[in-house]
Amino acid sequence: MRGAAGPRLVGMNNTPTTSTTGLLTDKVAFVTGAGRGIGAAAARLFAREGARVLLAARTETELKAVTEEIRAAGGTAEHVVCDLADPASVRAAVDRCVELYGRLDAAFNNGAAGQRPGPMEQLPEADFDQVCAVNLKGPWVAMNAEIAAIRATAGRGAIVNTSSVGSLMANPELPVYGATKGALNSLTASAAATYGPEGIRVNAIAPGTTLTEMLLEWEAQSPGTIEQLNSLTPLRRGADPHEVAEAAAWLLSDRSSYVTGTVLRVDGGMRA
Ligand SMILES: NC(=O)c1ccc[n+]([C@@H]2O[C@H](COP(=O)([O-])OP(=O)(O)OC[C@H]3O[C@@H](n4cnc5c(N)ncnc54)[C@H](OP(=O)(O)O)[C@@H]3O)[C@@H](O)[C@H]2O)c1
Repeated sequence: MRGAAGPRLVGMNNTPTTSTTGLLTDKVAFVTGAGRGIGAAAARLFAREGARVLLAARTETELKAVTEEIRAAGGTAEHVVCDLADPASVRAAVDRCVELYGRLDAAFNNGAAGQRPGPMEQLPEADFDQVCAVNLKGPWVAMNAEIAAIRATAGRGAIVNTSSVGSLMANPELPVYGATKGALNSLTASAAATYGPEGIRVNAIAPGTTLTEMLLEWEAQSPGTIEQLNSLTPLRRGADPHEVAEAAAWLLSDRSSYVTGTVLRVDGGMRA
């Protein structure tokens, strides 16, 4: 349920106390899935680190709330409604970024859909198509548009795709979701190899258990999931979304200038 605030969510939207360093000063960053969860935390962090940000997702009320919060804190932010399953709206969102800010330096392709948990033969075919459209075709369309926009404006840049620790192992509960994330890792590596020579870096992050609505939905459908995941995690807890956003900020910054084609686990050690 959207906006549910159980005990596990306490602190989810807390502004971290760490000081900022201007990691993304002078950059323009596009963030999908920015209305809540990891993407909202990333948009807030990127703005605090000096970027001008464009937030994208389907739910305008959420985008507006995060955008206003960023502006109230002194950052520069705009929002655009887009559906990752609708390629025209994804391209229009990237175009809007260039229209608003005149350039694109950094893109965080983070928005994604979960799936109904269960063995793979139980997932309706329409759900399979929808998860693939949002989680794989969506980032493919977005990356293509972003690469064109970076080439045409900043010239060099960085892209980060949000994968999942689930891309690195079997997912008996979320098999199609896991498959889309595995395919996204492959696309990330291919894009890194293709666009590296022109100075465009492409990486992925693979979050583990992260305390967002997506995880709480899984927990609601399969009670006990979070406790089980925490028991498999050396740090014995889920991440606050801002802890995942930190990894994306670094990968989008010039401080990771020799890193491309990697999948960075941000998983509390789950796959160590
Ligand atoms: N939470 C975890 O434990 C976990 C673990 C590993 C990986 N991840 C990944 O982390 C990323 C962020 O997820 P989250 O945990 O922050 O979940 P979340 O809180 O549910 O946020 C998901 C975001 O994606 C957007 N989105 C979903 N479908 C979309 C669509 N068709 N078009 C455009 N935007 C769409 C949502 O906005 P609208 O619904 O308004 O469009 C929302 O802003 C995802 O890629 C997810 O797979 C999460």
